[in-house]
Amino acid sequence: MAFVKLFSSLLLVAVLSWYRLEAFPGSGLDPEFYQFSCPQANEIVMTVLENAIVKDPRIAASLLRLHFHDCFALGCDASVLLDDSKNVVSEKNSKPNKNSLRGFEVIDEIKAKMEQVCPHTVSCADIVALAARDSTVLSGGPHWEVPLGRRDSTKASLSESNRNIPAPNSTIQTLIAKFSRQGLDEQDLVALSGAHTIGLARCATFRQRLYNQNGKNQPDVTLERNYYNDLKSSCPKVGGDNNVSPLDVSSPVRFDNTYFKLLLSGKGLLSSDEVLFAGNEQKAAELVRTYADDEDRFFHQFADSMIKMGKINVLTGSKGEIRKNCRRLN
Ligand code: HEM
Ligand SMILES: *[C@@H]1O[C@H](CO)[C@@H](O)[C@H](O)[C@H]1NC(C)=O
Repeated sequence: MAFVKLFSSLLLVAVLSWYRLEAFPGSGLDPEFYQFSCPQANEIVMTVLENAIVKDPRIAASLLRLHFHDCFALGCDASVLLDDSKNVVSEKNSKPNKNSLRGFEVIDEIKAKMEQVCPHTVSCADIVALAARDSTVLSGGPHWEVPLGRRDSTKASLSESNRNIPAPNSTIQTLIAKFSRQGLDEQDLVALSGAHTIGLARCATFRQRLYNQNGKNQPDVTLERNYYNDLKSSCPKVGGDNNVSPLDVSSPVRFDNTYFKLLLSGKGLLSSDEVLFAGNEQKAAELVRTYADDEDRFFHQFADSMIKMGKINVLTGSKGEIRKNCRRLN
């Protein structure tokens, strides 16, 4: 009898794992991955985040960006969280990350709670993916089920972080190429750029647009006049590198589709934002118009593209490790 019971539960496990692989072909991830090993995982992330956002409303934007910067260097494997050490050259010092990427302390706080409740079970990479989703939801954006089961890297790549994450003065062709290299298409590029509906950017990242676009000592002609004048007052030609401006000037902490409406009227903050509409790439411009007209379409595509981005080069099975501390290797 005991044997029959054992056999049937083994069979059940086999069927379940087969079903899981079939339901999410290719990635090996599954939203129910912690269903038995840590059913509290989702709730822990949400609870810490709710409190963190009260203390610092910008943290939602910062955590959404953190997932993007993690996924574009080596894959979504929490490589971005590793500090410098004997065996690690941290991605935190890359050009796009240095003095810019935020949210590490909140990830630490979530991980510490996670280790109390379910020791050595939930990866840092999954925490980052869940935090990005919850940040979107708490800002008023769409909800999606986050496929889980990522494991953490045993290395970082400063060079990939520098090479793969596009610069704010990238041309539309460069943006398309850098996303394409990660398996993301133009639709993903435009929808994911909609993350700039929340958060802030430093003067240093858009100064070139105000004073010296294309090395011509002229402002970017696509900038709307009044917006340009406002930006100049907070971002002088010299100094003020760390002065910040909202990426979405009309609703800076609300996740909505106004980002796309702003692009239609020359009020995208970064050059990489405005070129989606004004970069002479018809398909991207058409998508900007679509999302500006139809917030539902944007929300659905954003969710789909976040799930797709979240599967870039994930480590599963026995690859990588489950870090005890997100900042260092076990
Ligand atoms: C398409 C290429 C992209 C470029 C060139 C780009 C560039 C930038 C830059 C320069 C900043 C300001 C950083 C600073 O001033 O320190 C920024 C902020 C931000 N980015 Fe992007 N980004 C891109 C795509 C994305 C994607 C795909 C996401 C997420 C899905 C994202 C989410 C964010 C968020 C939420 C912020 C605000 C962060 C905060 O306030 O802490 N970005 N981005
Ligand atoms: C983009 O900005 C970097 C400095 O941040 C500069 O070296 C590079 O020349 C700029 N590229 C373009 C196309 O303007």
